[in-house]
Amino acid sequence: MTDLRTAARDDPRERVAGSSPAARSATTTEAPPGAFAVATDGLTKRFRSGQVAVDHVDLAVPRGAVYGFLGPNGSGKTTTIRMLLGLVRPTSGQAWVLGHPVPQAAGRVLPHVGALVEGPGFQPYLSGRANLARVDAADATTDPRTLARRTDEALERVGLAAAADKRFRQYSLGMKQRLGLAAALLRPRALLVLDEPTNGLDPQGTREVRHLVRELAADGTTVLVSSHLLTEIEQVCSHIGIMSGGRLVRQGRRTDIADPAQARVEVDTVPAHVVRAAEVLAALGLPEVRVAGDRVGAALGATDPARVTAALVGAGVDVAALAVRRPTLEQVFVELTGEGFDVAR
Ligand SMILES: Nc1ncnc2c1ncn2[C@@H]1O[C@H](COP(=O)(O)OP(=O)(O)O)[C@@H](O)[C@H]1O
Ligand SMILES: [Mg+2]
Repeated sequence: MTDLRTAARDDPRERVAGSSPAARSATTTEAPPGAFAVATDGLTKRFRSGQVAVDHVDLAVPRGAVYGFLGPNGSGKTTTIRMLLGLVRPTSGQAWVLGHPVPQAAGRVLPHVGALVEGPGFQPYLSGRANLARVDAADATTDPRTLARRTDEALERVGLAAAADKRFRQYSLGMKQRLGLAAALLRPRALLVLDEPTNGLDPQGTREVRHLVRELAADGTTVLVSSHLLTEIEQVCSHIGIMSGGRLVRQGRRTDIADPAQARVEVDTVPAHVVRAAEVLAALGLPEVRVAGDRVGAALGATDPARVTAALVGAGVDVAALAVRRPTLEQVFVELTGEGFDVAR
């Protein structure tokens, strides 16, 4: 966890700026509709090495969404997030956070954003509680008089109350992650940006993070949460964006993300009707007709399944069952990103 304004000050390599020609022209760029907590337009980062880590990404995170930002290691998630938080300057493109252009308006908007990102962070010899006090002191928008209560609530919320007075250096990786989350929760936020919050957590800790994300979302907080492991956050997401090789290769509601055009229709019939069923599907123009035992399947595309049923019944095919199967999110993820578990580059 990083206090954002402190981080921007402490990280001279990527100091945010508001005075470059690009920044000046970008502030005049018309902001996208306020319906989006995060939006980007052609956001691109080319590092000095020449590597394009983020390549024309157009994010659209609706307010109130839990947006799962998924992709293998090295696909550009952290770099994108760091640009949203004003920690890395885009090479080109524009980002808006809570309706304000970033990094131009970072100072104004970032107090409303809680973030868990890798980076300069906690003091090893201070306790978790003392570290939170330090983070809070760097936030000019919070009231020091309520610090003790806010700290206790945040520690309680992430399950660190019992270890609050242990030194940070004695924390496990999972406890460090939790403290980062606690720091993001020291004040109410309109937007939480969590970069791989389940890293280093055991299955129980992972479940707790999911539960916490759900709770925060129920309170109306928009959550942008990244992971290289689909299954760790998939269940809590209303929306999903899939990164691969620096590009956003798919984005949408979780329930729509499996490409509807890839749906297949599968018909169970009797052995004597298998050939006829296959002919009916082919006659409807459905590609990839396949037969396996008593089951005949084909790609459905945009065809209405009711038409398929009617055609089969009309041709006298005995239909025992008809199902439309859509690829699972996991199949889509693997298909779009390769293996899904390997470091991409
Ligand atoms: N500061 C940097 N300088 C050069 N290359 C970087 C830097 N940060 C990240 N990269 C490269 O950019 C790519 C995307 O990295 P990153 O955004 O961390 O991906 P992810 O978070 O999806 O694992 C990787 O190939 C990584 O090596
Ligand atoms: Mg990362």
